[in-house]
Amino acid sequence: MCGITAYVGSDDAVDNLLTTLTNLEYRGYDSAGVALLDGSDLDVRKREGETDRLKEAVSEHPPSGPIGIGHTRWSTHGPPSDANAHPHTDCHGRVAVVHNGIIENYETLRDDLRARGHEFTSDTDSEVVPHLISERLAAGSDPETAFRESIAQLEGSYAIAAVIRGEDAVFATRSGSPLVVGLGETANYLASDVPAFLEFTDRVIHLDDGDFAVVRPDDVRLTDVDGHAVHRAPDTVEWTDGDADKSGYNHYMHKEIHEQPVALRQTVRGRTDPTGDGVVFEEFPPGSFDDVREVVFVACGTSYHAALYGQAMLRRRGVPATAALASEFATEPHPVDEGTLVVAVTQSGETADTLAAMRAVADTPARTLAVTNVVGSTAAREADDALFIRAGPEIGVAATKTFSSQVATLGLLAERLRLDNDPDATPDEAFLDGLQAIPEALESILGDHHAERVANAYGAKESYFFIGRGVGFPVSLEGALKFKEITYEHAEGFAAGELKHGPLALVTDNSVVTAVFTGQNDEKTLHNVREVQSRGAPVVAIAPESATEVRRAADETIEIPDAHPELSGLLSNVVLQLFSYHAAELRGRPIDKPRNLAKSVTVE
Ligand code: AGP
Repeated sequence: MCGITAYVGSDDAVDNLLTTLTNLEYRGYDSAGVALLDGSDLDVRKREGETDRLKEAVSEHPPSGPIGIGHTRWSTHGPPSDANAHPHTDCHGRVAVVHNGIIENYETLRDDLRARGHEFTSDTDSEVVPHLISERLAAGSDPETAFRESIAQLEGSYAIAAVIRGEDAVFATRSGSPLVVGLGETANYLASDVPAFLEFTDRVIHLDDGDFAVVRPDDVRLTDVDGHAVHRAPDTVEWTDGDADKSGYNHYMHKEIHEQPVALRQTVRGRTDPTGDGVVFEEFPPGSFDDVREVVFVACGTSYHAALYGQAMLRRRGVPATAALASEFATEPHPVDEGTLVVAVTQSGETADTLAAMRAVADTPARTLAVTNVVGSTAAREADDALFIRAGPEIGVAATKTFSSQVATLGLLAERLRLDNDPDATPDEAFLDGLQAIPEALESILGDHHAERVANAYGAKESYFFIGRGVGFPVSLEGALKFKEITYEHAEGFAAGELKHGPLALVTDNSVVTAVFTGQNDEKTLHNVREVQSRGAPVVAIAPESATEVRRAADETIEIPDAHPELSGLLSNVVLQLFSYHAAELRGRPIDKPRNLAKSVTVE
């Protein structure tokens, strides 16, 4: 939610800032802005809308200066507008600030600042920050101290970057929102996420909450809030620049759907050993989970659906498991004890609800594990342990390849837990071999155009329902989420058996029902298909090749290769991703930037 960037070098910063802001648009696209510093000149430009509108606005007379900050916004306080766009400045145009997060005590701070003569020009919570800094400067503090003294007055979550006229530096800090420093040869960078500057450097320093950074062209200095030096070792990011571009696809989502065979191979590589230890996690030798008696997942959105899938895989292995919505768990936590493993499933590792759920058990004897895609993310650092899904960067707001890699990782984790809990157990070879076979099966689905044809054929319905049972249930929920997220059509996912308990009242000949078959309990789902057809709705089945009964019953069947029944949902899910993608394309939707959404939801 909101993307922050900064450039500190010797070239003009504007081109770099516009590039890094474009790279960060998945974090928000309600407005964009930059502030360029050239000695004693501070030039702020901002526009409502996507970064392209800002680019147009600055094209004739671009601002200049070798130091700058930038922002792309996902609105929280005040609607999208030029005035509410960041950077925000103080009354004298001396200080400019960009902010990601929510300042909870902003009303009190703003009232006090107004009472002391400050004038405000936006509805945002963020605007208090430049005024606070300005006040501290006026009181005689040096710029670095003024920045720290101002931040110390804030309550809430924030990543903040500021420039001050006459200073050749960017001042930055974080608390609860991500911020990473990029170390270049001739310039240094700051951004909310690494993909922003990946084409310029892969050497990074992940800031911790409470860190303050003073970034200069040839130096990055870190301190705590009292100004004491802090040392953080730089990391080299394994992602490459090419991972974060569109590589000839029209949309990141389409590219990332097609990257799934590669992503899954990376996820699974070196981690299966069917005739030996079963599952090999470098970080967790056999026996690492032998004290785990139950698993509680906390997650949101697509990651929650992956957690539901993980819950099914654990329960089938005799391990008690519950998937909880992180936002609910954060305020109503489940009872946990030393035998509970709380697994936070989060692609970004920065989702505020998921972090809040993890923090809700921080003072209990439960052990926490982050299953995430982002090394150095807050979840990875705050949890007792981290397990990485290794999917590569995902830019499209609609999560695709990370769902597949999350499910595969959770399948491996489920198997590791079963083996650790029962010293006599032997690895489930069929499952582990089945997992290795999924990437090839996915390749054949990606080469098929059936999902596109069906999306076109059923393009004008009023409602879209998705049903499934077993692991087909979380896949149905995920299919519906993806469909509504990018097509803006009414879509709902249900457990197949649940339809007749109420939702069937919504089914008419103006709906289409997509039924997910996995090769297990298919005959029960077929009953539900017939119930739907009797109400006049066409049924599109997604079913394994060998499910001939299904083909006979459904109005349309999209076949998937036969696979291990526990993993077949991974294949159906990719068909549903393609179905949603083509349905959204047909409607001309902005697929990578669906309205009102952002990739990383860093507010509760
Ligand atoms: C799904 O397409 C969404 N982008 C969203 O539901 C997402 O999965 C959710 O916000 C959780 O994000 P996380 O995995 O980064 O925690």
